[in-house]
Amino acid sequence: AEIFRLAPHPTIPRCQAPLVVIVLDGLGESKYNDEYNAVHMAQTPTLDALKAVGPRHYRTLKAHGTSVGLPSDADMGNSEVGHNALGAGQIVDQGAKCVDKALATGDLFRLDGWKYIEPNAKQGTLHLIGLLSDGGVHSRYDQIMLLVEGAIKQGVKRIRLHVLADGRDVGDNTAVAWVERLAGDARRLSKQHGVDARIASGGGRMKVTMDRYESDWRVVQRGYYAHVLGEAPSTFTDPVDAVRTLKKDNTVSDQYVDPWVIVGDDGKPVGAVQDGDAVVTFNFRADRMVEISQALEYEKFHKFDRKRWPKIRFAGMMQYDGDLLLPKHFLVPPPLIERASEQYVVGTGLRVFACSESQKIGHVTFFWNGNRSGYLDPKLEKFQEIPSDQGISFDKAPAMKAREIAATTKQAILSGQYDFVRCNFANPDMVGHTGKLKAAIEAVTVTDACIKVLLDAVDQVGGRFLLTADHGNAEDMVQRQKDGSPVVGPEGKPVELTSHTLNPVPCAIGGPGLPPDVHFRGDLPAAGLANVTAAFINLLGFEAPDFYKPSLVTTAKEE
Ligand code: 3PG
Ligand code: CO
Repeated sequence: AEIFRLAPHPTIPRCQAPLVVIVLDGLGESKYNDEYNAVHMAQTPTLDALKAVGPRHYRTLKAHGTSVGLPSDADMGNSEVGHNALGAGQIVDQGAKCVDKALATGDLFRLDGWKYIEPNAKQGTLHLIGLLSDGGVHSRYDQIMLLVEGAIKQGVKRIRLHVLADGRDVGDNTAVAWVERLAGDARRLSKQHGVDARIASGGGRMKVTMDRYESDWRVVQRGYYAHVLGEAPSTFTDPVDAVRTLKKDNTVSDQYVDPWVIVGDDGKPVGAVQDGDAVVTFNFRADRMVEISQALEYEKFHKFDRKRWPKIRFAGMMQYDGDLLLPKHFLVPPPLIERASEQYVVGTGLRVFACSESQKIGHVTFFWNGNRSGYLDPKLEKFQEIPSDQGISFDKAPAMKAREIAATTKQAILSGQYDFVRCNFANPDMVGHTGKLKAAIEAVTVTDACIKVLLDAVDQVGGRFLLTADHGNAEDMVQRQKDGSPVVGPEGKPVELTSHTLNPVPCAIGGPGLPPDVHFRGDLPAAGLANVTAAFINLLGFEAPDFYKPSLVTTAKEE
């Protein structure tokens, strides 16, 4: 990517010490300050103190819906769109919206990606792999149906669906219903159009296929074996029966359902991928599709033994990595994120340090930099990954690697080697996604203590900081009725909320290096995450590009 130079800010001087940007993943502000708000319930002296400073240095930001490029304001925020906005200073139509448009206009079936897979899809089998829900974070059910219907209209006769149970972007214990619905729709369409469409394999998204940032390749291996080879520890003849059985009376969360394969009366898998088939991964979001794409596409591949690598034509719903150009073929062009802030920061010669644990490292590098995976300039940038725990549900270890991230980032702040230090704490989000309230409270408490470590380091070197979050999650751990009271489940217990929220997120600035006249503007009440970018560029001592969303900060005297 090209690099560009920033002009010095007219009134905010550079600071000799670094600017530290802290992203709390999945920590919003809810109007419900009750026992189901893990942020309210946690011990948060650091966050409380930041808030107590008042509106000159503390405010909230929009982090959902159209303010981050999602199709509607009913869409909760997520890390992809949140970090894209934080890093790019602009709001671009995100993947969900691009796919909606391509399906509505029919362009999807006219573009190069479809043309590439079309011969195989018609002569062999069309395999569709992805997340089964209407969460709208990685995929959406209506898009899957439009894809299936459109493919049938184009003349595809044999379709196999390989579907991952969600329970993370939608309510837990909904997977059986989703599989029932899809199986029903597949049956109906098969009958209506005289085709053969059915579900062939699946598993829970955290156990099968949807790993990210190479946190645990075994997850992808399970998926490849189930979807491509037709191999899984348990086989079934009916997909609803498969998920119902593996859910073990809902003692297993949808996210962690074991892999399963559907077999015919002959005991053979109904949807193993064969030479000459076409494969589409229908998720629009990138992070959790990169690894399975590599397994499907790369001729040289060593992350696990594929045993068999069929000669297929493969396309992603989108291109998932603009640096690796992965996959080579895709149905819908991904949103173009041009002139992300890192291109300016590096172009100005500033030295950058970015840190998180495996589960989130790509958020502060890949998503931050407009979905580009590499360094712009390895001499100026250092991306530090702390290995995440593998193979456990994070409610069992709610501290995750927060202390290690804090210690490593602190070293970077103290080292004098960096001008701009950023990090992401995964805990409120990853533990929030488990739906486990007590663990989420612990997660937020640990995170707050780690923020303190970083703010102390900022104090020590005389630096500046900006703290924010990418979307809400831990601040609401229960499904609510319209009046705010918890939804109560059949066993009389409140129903856990595992997904993100629509809530705004905190934003705070400070540090001994912050000039006393720098403060939040009072005239941007509807500002969102994209307004943060110009603000941190200002805090670095530079003017932001004029097409960025207006900066949150000013030195002007308040009216
Ligand atoms: C996930 O991928 O873990 C969830 O679907 C979304 O979480 P994130 O947007 O916070 O990564
Ligand atoms: Co999340």
